[in-house]
Amino acid sequence: MNDLMESLKSRKTIRKYSPEVVGEDLLDDILKAACRTSTTGNMQVYSIIVTRDDGKKKELLPLHFNQAMVMEAPVLLTFCADFNRFSKWCRLNKAQPGYDNFLSFMTAAIDALLVAQTACIAAEALGLGICYLGTTTYMADRIIEVLRLPKGVVPVTTVTLGWPAEYPDQVDRLPQEAVVHKEVYSDYTDQEIERLYSEKERRDDSRQFVQENNKTSLAQVFTDIRYKKEDNVYFSKMLLKVLEDQGFMNNVEQGSVT
Ligand SMILES: Cc1cc2nc3c(=O)[nH]c(=O)nc-3n(C[C@H](O)[C@H](O)[C@H](O)COP(=O)(O)O)c2cc1C
Repeated sequence: MNDLMESLKSRKTIRKYSPEVVGEDLLDDILKAACRTSTTGNMQVYSIIVTRDDGKKKELLPLHFNQAMVMEAPVLLTFCADFNRFSKWCRLNKAQPGYDNFLSFMTAAIDALLVAQTACIAAEALGLGICYLGTTTYMADRIIEVLRLPKGVVPVTTVTLGWPAEYPDQVDRLPQEAVVHKEVYSDYTDQEIERLYSEKERRDDSRQFVQENNKTSLAQVFTDIRYKKEDNVYFSKMLLKVLEDQGFMNNVEQGSVT
C-alpha cells in the first residue's frame, strides 16, 4: 500500500518511450485491474480500444496533432463512452434503452475516464509511463472513423503507454489549500488568488513561457495561446455534433441510442 502511495506521489507524465515491448499479459493484467473500477450501476458503459499497429497509429497521428508519442509509445489506449453494447443487451431482452441523451453520455464518459485513470495508476505502479492525449475530444469525429466506433460510442480520452525513456522532474501543483474546501466552497478573494498562484508564476519555467510567447502574464499564455476561446468554441461545436451523430442528443423523452 505504501508503494502505491509512493507511486502516486512521485508520478509524472512520460512523453518519451523506449522501444521495449509492453507484453500482452502485462497489458491484460493492467486492463483487468482497471475494469474493477467503480462503474455506474455496474453497467460498464465504456470500451477500451488498444492500438499497437503502426498503420493505425499513423492514421491517428494527425488526429492527435502529430504528437510524437503516438508513434513512439508501443501502446495507445482509447477510452470510449459506450452505450452501444448495453443498449443492444437491453433490446435483446425486451427492455427499451433510454440512453440517447446527454445525461447518459456524461454517465458513460465518467465511467470511461475512471477506468482510464485506474489503468494509468496500475501502469505507473508497475514502472510504465503514461501520457493522456486531450486531442481525443477535439478530433472525436475523425477518431470515430479510424477506430470504426458505432453509434452510441464516443472516444473521451487516449493514453499513450510504454516503458519510460525520460525521467523528467515533477511539475508544480497549486498548494493543497487552493483546491480543497472544508464543508462548503470558500470563494477566493483577489488577494487569495494572487497568493495561491504566486509560486507558479514565480517559477523559472513559467517566466520563460511568458517571455517566449511575448505575453505579460502566465495567465495570458493560457487564454491567448494554449486554450483560446476561439478554439474552445470551435471544438465545442464539433463535439456537440459528434454527440448528436452518435445518438446522444436525439430524443430526451423516448428512443434508443442505436
Ligand atoms: C485530460 C488530459 C489531457 C492531456 N492532454 C495532453 C496532450 O495532449 N499532450 C501532452 O503532452 N500532455 C497532455 N496531458 C498531460 C498534462 O499536460 C500533464 O498531466 C500536466 O502538465 C501535469 O504534468 P504531470 O502529469 O507530469 O504532473 C493531458 C492530461 C490530461 C489529464
